[in-house]
Amino acid sequence: MIGVLDSGVGGLSVLAELKKALPNQNFTFFGDTKNIPYGTKSKEEIFLYTKNILEFFLEKNIKNVVFACNTTSAVAYLELKEYFLNKINIFPLIQTSAPYAIVDLKDNDTIAVLATKATTKSKKYEEVIKKINEKINVVSIDCTGFVEIVENRTYKEKKSLDLIEDRINIAKKHNAKRIILGCTHYPYLVDIFRKIYNVDYFDPGIYLARTVKEQIDNVGQGKLEFFVSKNPGEFILSAKTFFNIENAALVNL
Ligand code: DGL
Repeated sequence: MIGVLDSGVGGLSVLAELKKALPNQNFTFFGDTKNIPYGTKSKEEIFLYTKNILEFFLEKNIKNVVFACNTTSAVAYLELKEYFLNKINIFPLIQTSAPYAIVDLKDNDTIAVLATKATTKSKKYEEVIKKINEKINVVSIDCTGFVEIVENRTYKEKKSLDLIEDRINIAKKHNAKRIILGCTHYPYLVDIFRKIYNVDYFDPGIYLARTVKEQIDNVGQGKLEFFVSKNPGEFILSAKTFFNIENAALVNL
């Protein structure tokens, strides 16, 4: 059994990749809908929210957990790894996927990172990329508001489209060769992004799933279960646009 966590439906974009990579595995998904969005919260708050979810997983005897959340991976992974040392094996999103984001890029090429405020501030993608090639330019773009567009299903509203256009135009202005979808909610918006700027979009969830597959066997009954901390009905409604889900149980952490 593998635990998968995020603040909301974004993590399902990673779960879908995990399911493709390990179809027989059992997955328990936790969406922290009570505390969404994580991206505008402090490091301390994000640590606490994620710690509570990890404790919930531990009670269920789940010892392998995927952080299907860039924000948690960026600001709380190291502290949580230390806190749950020898108890939980964590797969963080940014650290496992970012090295693959610059494959084929050359010196002085620009890569843009679309992410939440907290991820942008952490400069985590930049840190991992620059360690591999310091000559790649990294442009980080704070996309606060995109998470709400996905959660509230407002992708067709003018206000949403204006915000998206404004943010994607920053990557365009910098002539970015590739764009990292640095928040797990964003793969659901990629068709809209492409209409504004048609470049190569990198989905970290695909590469995280590959890493998990290398380390965990494809054994189990192919079971999926879902838990949320608030409004299961609303979660199912938003999730259904892109994931086949019937039930989510409410848990008060
Ligand atoms: N989907 C998460 C991420 O990848 C969290 C977004 C949020 O809650 O702000 O960053």
